[in-house]
Amino acid sequence: MEFTKKHSFHGELSVPGDKSISHRGIMFGAISGGLTEITGFLQGADCLSTISCFRQLGISIENDGSRVLVHGRGLHGLTPPKQILDVGNSGTTLRLISGILAGQSFQSTLNGDVSIRKRPMKRIFIPLTEMGARFQCWDAGSFPDYRTKTSSGCAPFTIQGGSLKHIHYQSPVSSAQVKSAVLLAGLYGDGITRVTEPVLSRNHTELMLAGFGADILSTDTTAAIWPEPKLEGQAIHVPGDISSAAYFIALGLICPHAEILIQNVGINPTRSGMLKAVHAMGGKLSLLNERTVSGEPVADILVTSSSLHGTTIEGSIIPTLIDELPIIAVMAAFAKGTTVIRDARELKVKESDRIATVTENLKAMGADITPTEDGMIIRGGSPLQGARIKTYGDHRIAMSFAIAALNAEGATTFDDEACVTVSYPSFYQDLEKLLD
Ligand code: S3P
Repeated sequence: MEFTKKHSFHGELSVPGDKSISHRGIMFGAISGGLTEITGFLQGADCLSTISCFRQLGISIENDGSRVLVHGRGLHGLTPPKQILDVGNSGTTLRLISGILAGQSFQSTLNGDVSIRKRPMKRIFIPLTEMGARFQCWDAGSFPDYRTKTSSGCAPFTIQGGSLKHIHYQSPVSSAQVKSAVLLAGLYGDGITRVTEPVLSRNHTELMLAGFGADILSTDTTAAIWPEPKLEGQAIHVPGDISSAAYFIALGLICPHAEILIQNVGINPTRSGMLKAVHAMGGKLSLLNERTVSGEPVADILVTSSSLHGTTIEGSIIPTLIDELPIIAVMAAFAKGTTVIRDARELKVKESDRIATVTENLKAMGADITPTEDGMIIRGGSPLQGARIKTYGDHRIAMSFAIAALNAEGATTFDDEACVTVSYPSFYQDLEKLLD
């Protein structure tokens, strides 16, 4: 696929369901009693990995592409997997399922793709080991016979679960995946499990688990969960994913002739820091028809062409827009003045090292960008040139640079544009629909 400059985008669209909420719907449905019915489920590769893992754990899941039915078996109803659980590219599947598996009295082995095998798992091994689970990492080369043990702290690994102790975990990172893994293990604990994080990360687990009947209390940056609740299947309506809407928000703002309405987007404040960043950059964005769906705030988002200017993004806003930083960096390259992104070291351990991959690709397009230890500095406002983009198999890099390419002089190509299927299989078709 080759991308060239387009001058005008107009229309309405609905982006696919929220990835974080879709994963959790399957997982929490699996360990609840009765039926969970999910509409708006994200049919992306990551969430399909979650379905396939839970099927291997004995859960019957029907998926006709528009509605997913999870036949839950309760907190203690999972059965030992006959095969290695393959999480594909999905860090959320791997980390959250580990919290659940920590409480099972059987062994499971987990693996994933090349990217997942580089991602740090010690961040969940540490608290889950403290609670009583046991982990063994394997040299990926010796897999699937897993002959060679390593202390890599990465997948593939085997987890032996069992009866767990409650803990109060002071997490060194603000990570909803770490927090959720500990809270899910806490369902199987011998007392109240608490997690405190430096800055509040996305709170979908706390909201949704409470909806399923868990006793869970959030105070500032601490979440507390009581063990052995009676969880009941729920009807879940998954809102559109703000992380997917982000590409169309950026497109509508950067492109000189654009008005785009993105319908039904989740705007949970622990996820929607991008809206504040857009405001700080002078973007014209309005929220319409604000409402609550399945306990989550939702709105339609209207964006129009804007003259953007640089800003500083740092501190407690970072976890609320962590997945949007690649597209925000692209917006910054089109904005007048300097944008500074700090306190975002976590970017280095996402599907790719996003400080490095954003820098490499923005530089290839002629932008003035300096990577730093915990972010980047972008001096924007000069036109970008088409280039050959290296995605490193990272869906968010592919989509961010598709938006850059549509606003750059000359042609842009990608080494791997298909990786968008991880979170947004219809991304290119949706872009096409808005083109005038
Ligand atoms: C997610 C949490 C975030 C985010 C990821 C999804 C989740 O990761 O980057 O895409 O669903 O909990 P961290 O919790 O590791 O920051």
